[in-house]
Amino acid sequence: MKRSKKHSRYETARRILLFWTLFVGIGAVAGATGMLVDTTGSSMGMDAMLPYFQVLPFASVLYQDFLFPGIALLIVNGITNLTAAALLIKKKKAGIVCGGIFGITLMLWICIQFYIFPFNFMSTSFFIFGLAQALTGYAAWVFYTQEHFHFDESEYPNVGRNTKKLVVYFSRMGYVRKIAYEEANRTGSAIYEIKSTELTAGTLGFWWCGRFGMHRWDMPIESLECLDLASYDHVTICTPIWVFALCAPVRAFCRKASGLIRQADYIVVHHTRCFSYFNAAEEMDSLLGISSTGARSICCKFGSYDKVKNRV
Ligand SMILES: Cc1cc2nc3c(=O)[nH]c(=O)nc-3n(C[C@H](O)[C@H](O)[C@H](O)COP(=O)(O)O)c2cc1C
Repeated sequence: MKRSKKHSRYETARRILLFWTLFVGIGAVAGATGMLVDTTGSSMGMDAMLPYFQVLPFASVLYQDFLFPGIALLIVNGITNLTAAALLIKKKKAGIVCGGIFGITLMLWICIQFYIFPFNFMSTSFFIFGLAQALTGYAAWVFYTQEHFHFDESEYPNVGRNTKKLVVYFSRMGYVRKIAYEEANRTGSAIYEIKSTELTAGTLGFWWCGRFGMHRWDMPIESLECLDLASYDHVTICTPIWVFALCAPVRAFCRKASGLIRQADYIVVHHTRCFSYFNAAEEMDSLLGISSTGARSICCKFGSYDKVKNRV
């Protein structure tokens, strides 16, 4: 029987980045070799380009032939990209960082070409390739961080010890889940995950969630029948922020939980350092018809948490 392998966005991005580093690296080594073998550039038909180099600093020393440009090309775009490619093949995180940075290096290199040559197809294409490489590097880094985010339920032994307290959470990528478990472990609360019946996972899920967030809609959630909310003295609701407001599944939960929760506090999780998003706490208060005992705002960037702001 065939085993279905979980799709990894990082793997896809790593392979695309590997293509770019090999494409740019091999191209640069080939070009540099041509320049170094015949430094006049005539065998590659490049000798007519030398006059353009004369606007650069130290041209009388460095740009009278293709020796220095060849060495520079070999080092700046060749060896660097091939090193990044080797690291990517070995699946090292440094390969992603280097691959992304060398995309920026290529763009800077092309900026020099923009300065010295008239507008041309080749330079423009390679600037776009550099941009694509840098963006792929960034995407690979984001996906790597997301897919290597650590969470292990067994590290929270106190969860569920206090039958009068409950932590409720919704989480797409696991960031809010970790905060919810930490809170439940700290207070001994039971824990409940709000599950959406809509698509929320992966790239498509992100855009689908964004649609609900943008329209401030409720997102359909699984039935709360098995959850006796009225039996808890205190409920902590942990929610991510979607499009500057309360996330859609928690909005749906609060509407259903209206009149059932006597006392609550909130933890809002988002990725913007300069905002607190206590507007989400106010919305939950109004949906639940209560006045919460407090709210905490936590900034989380791809799994690293900082900046806790409190509102009493
Ligand atoms: C559709 C969508 C919209 C978002 N909008 C915002 C936003 O406006 N401001 C913000 O700081 N974070 C925003 N975020 C980021 C999340 O709030 C943040 O990554 C949170 O940690 C997600 O937690 P989770 O992955 O556990 O659900 C958004 C995330 C999604 C999926």
